[in-house]
Amino acid sequence: MKPPLLIANWKMKLLPEQERNLAGEIITAIDGKGGKTEVVICPTHLSIDSISSQAGGTDIVLGAQDACWEHEGALTGEISAEALAGYGVKYCIVGHSERRRNFGETDDMINKKALSLLVHSVTPVICVGETHDERREGRQEVTIMRQLRTVLKSLSGDFPIVVAYEPVWAISPNGPAEPEHVAPMAELIYQTLIDRFSPEQVASNIRIIYGGSVDAENIISFLKVPHIAGALLGAASLQSSTFIPLVKTVMQQ
Ligand code: PGA
Repeated sequence: MKPPLLIANWKMKLLPEQERNLAGEIITAIDGKGGKTEVVICPTHLSIDSISSQAGGTDIVLGAQDACWEHEGALTGEISAEALAGYGVKYCIVGHSERRRNFGETDDMINKKALSLLVHSVTPVICVGETHDERREGRQEVTIMRQLRTVLKSLSGDFPIVVAYEPVWAISPNGPAEPEHVAPMAELIYQTLIDRFSPEQVASNIRIIYGGSVDAENIISFLKVPHIAGALLGAASLQSSTFIPLVKTVMQQ
């Protein structure tokens, strides 16, 4: 069994100096404390370089919030998977609902991003999740299956992948979802993965995590849901006073 995976998604909430300070506090508090969790921090691209130096040689793993699907080109403002990998980035979030909603990202784009990341040995953290309206209309299963079918296209299953179930309606300041909401969706995602890959590939390479208003109080209830192997954390990861107790709660499990 792999240790629980906790991924901090700092979004565009902090300035680089604040990100460096927070990374330093997390490293001081968590590094060398037993390794019973895998803690990944995803700062803005501007801080990848400096946090790569800070986190190098520690237990804290560096992640990124997005990547382009192309290797290089006339793509103003974009950053390639290869560039991220060069700074030691091990995980990269793709398909977050905020990118789908605000930047028009489609499942096809997310699929291409995941493929490009895998070429450079960066594990994609592929976000899927239904909106409030989709759940109200009882379309949550159809939505997740449709998203998974496209985002997983041509992925081999021989390399690590993380699927983050993030119901859009549960992301703070809304949520959280209840574990009872998450359980059937985690089962659906697991069954879809088993249909798509071999059971051995799913067991060794693919993890399902939950995201949406997770904090130190509720994290354990989500980690108890079958198939849920970790969490994607937004608001609770933005301050050491909320994030470190959360990580310690999981470490003590
Ligand atoms: P939240 O964000 O923990 O603040 O709800 C999670 C996310 O959007 O990844």
